[in-house]
Amino acid sequence: MSETISRIGIIGCGLMGAGIAEVCAKAGSDVIVVESDDERAKAGRARLEKSLTRAQERGKIDDAAAVLERVQVVTEIASLADRQLVIEAIVEDEQAKVDLFARLDEVVTDPEAILASNTSSIPIVNIAGATSRPQQVMGVHFFNPVPVLRLVELVPALTTADATLERAREYVEGTLGKEAIVCQDRAGFVVNSLLIPFILSAVRMYEGGFATAEDIDKGMVLGAAHPQGPLALADLIGLDTCLSAAESMYAEYKEPLHAPPALLRRMVSAGHLGRKSGKGFYDYS
Ligand code: NAI
Repeated sequence: MSETISRIGIIGCGLMGAGIAEVCAKAGSDVIVVESDDERAKAGRARLEKSLTRAQERGKIDDAAAVLERVQVVTEIASLADRQLVIEAIVEDEQAKVDLFARLDEVVTDPEAILASNTSSIPIVNIAGATSRPQQVMGVHFFNPVPVLRLVELVPALTTADATLERAREYVEGTLGKEAIVCQDRAGFVVNSLLIPFILSAVRMYEGGFATAEDIDKGMVLGAAHPQGPLALADLIGLDTCLSAAESMYAEYKEPLHAPPALLRRMVSAGHLGRKSGKGFYDYS
């Protein structure tokens, strides 16, 4: 019987890493986050503090300081030696992840530790192959914003042991209180495989002048009971993120439905990335 997971390592304290650190610490785990340098570690900690302070102000947690005390943000990967579960959330770059997992394999001493990636599109099996313990490597894919969205996709590679999947599920559902779904190691997993072609179809409709952005979104909100329309959702996700998800799925499946429309590429080139840049299919300025 494996020990219950309580010592978590996270690599990368950006948008996703900070969110994952937050939910793990809120659930009572001891969390060490590794960033690439002091400046980014400082920025990562500030991101975490801001989110926890906001959660306290809104009455979602009682004591932000107590949660923060369970999180260390450091720059030395060797600090992860005693971790039972490490979740990598660095840039979406296969070589960077492969190099990192090879290093992680050297530093993590617990023979039962699970080494997980939050990647949205890189084959888990390629990352697993960089380690001496591919049976303990898998995808654990959270959704943005991590403290709000309850879903986690668990992605075993062809090399992942069943026991690894079950132990990760126990942590994600039992400790974090999230809901897990399991899917194969293929670009897009379940959610993006369904969502991205839907968003791209809406972009094509708009691009072709078939209907206005407002009417396309209103159609899906009022006609299909979606909480928001596909173009508003694309703006929220970030058009650059939508584009890279589409590109990785197109590379995997060569399906015309996954091919990014020219307008999406042009908007990303123009810096119209949606809410985060102030302009996308809608104006947020
Ligand atoms: P981000 O750019 O906000 O954060 C990445 C962080 O990793 C940065 O702070 C960077 O300094 C750090 N980093 C880079 N290389 C490092 C290294 N070698 N060691 C330590 N830290 C390092 O990126 P984001 O959006 O948080 O994405 C992270 C991962 O999560 C990617 O694989 C992405 O595909 C995946 N993901 C992203 C989602 C999103 O909505 N943004 C949703 C689900 C998964």
